[in-house]
Amino acid sequence: MTLLELTDVTAAYGRVKVLEGVSLSVPEGGAVGILGANGAGKTTTLRAISGTVNVGGRITFAGTDITSLGPEKTAALGIAHVPEGRGTLPNLTVRENLLVGAYLRRDRNALGDDIDFLLDLFPNLAQRISQNASALSGGEQQMLAVARAFMAKPTLLVLDEPSLGLAPSTAKDVYDAIERLRGESGIAMLVVEQNANLAFRVVDSATVLETGRSVLSGTTEELKGRDEIRKAYLGG
Ligand SMILES: Nc1ncnc2c1ncn2[C@@H]1O[C@H](COP(=O)(O)OP(=O)(O)O)[C@@H](O)[C@H]1O
Ligand SMILES: [Mg+2]
Repeated sequence: MTLLELTDVTAAYGRVKVLEGVSLSVPEGGAVGILGANGAGKTTTLRAISGTVNVGGRITFAGTDITSLGPEKTAALGIAHVPEGRGTLPNLTVRENLLVGAYLRRDRNALGDDIDFLLDLFPNLAQRISQNASALSGGEQQMLAVARAFMAKPTLLVLDEPSLGLAPSTAKDVYDAIERLRGESGIAMLVVEQNANLAFRVVDSATVLETGRSVLSGTTEELKGRDEIRKAYLGG
């Protein structure tokens, strides 16, 4: 079954058209990447999903048309976004940040178990559970942002360039944590990355965007074998 499907999606900021036709689909429980250079339209594609830009084409989630539905309703349906730049709350503790992620949930008595599950997967966060988010390193803040989104108990976790601005070894640690989360929870993921080497550790397939269009899609194995992918996104 398809969980998320974008069919020929266009998007514009005011009258400035940025997406010219993006198509992709995430199967239930699957992990899919969106690869592309800076400015290709990756973040705009995620804004199209949450309905914060002017959207054309069609977007469905779990069989429901969510085109232009808006961020609150798409979140309530089960899509959790980790935005570019993370957006953790600096003056709240790690535990409070996790609880903020769960604010829409009614099953309040399950939150403790979910926090324990996440702290097992993210030992760095466990060590800093009572510290303010502002005391965390960049990599730890990224892990907190991912964990906080997971606390919403979404069906789909959407990650916008988790490696952005991190040193290579830190970015690797963050992807280790994302891989563990995916392995242990089986949650579906849509992962935006410029760094294909990192994304390919988590995703089963990916779509390549160039100037607002999907130009190539395939399984991770297929894409790794393509010369143009190796040259543009895999460093050789
Ligand atoms: N808020 C905005 N208003 C106008 N243009 C924007 C805005 N955000 C991004 N753009 C433009 O849209 C294009 C795609 O940007 P973006 O989706 O952020 O790309 P990526 O995430 O792949 O780096 C770029 O040309 C960028 O300058
Ligand atoms: Mg971006």
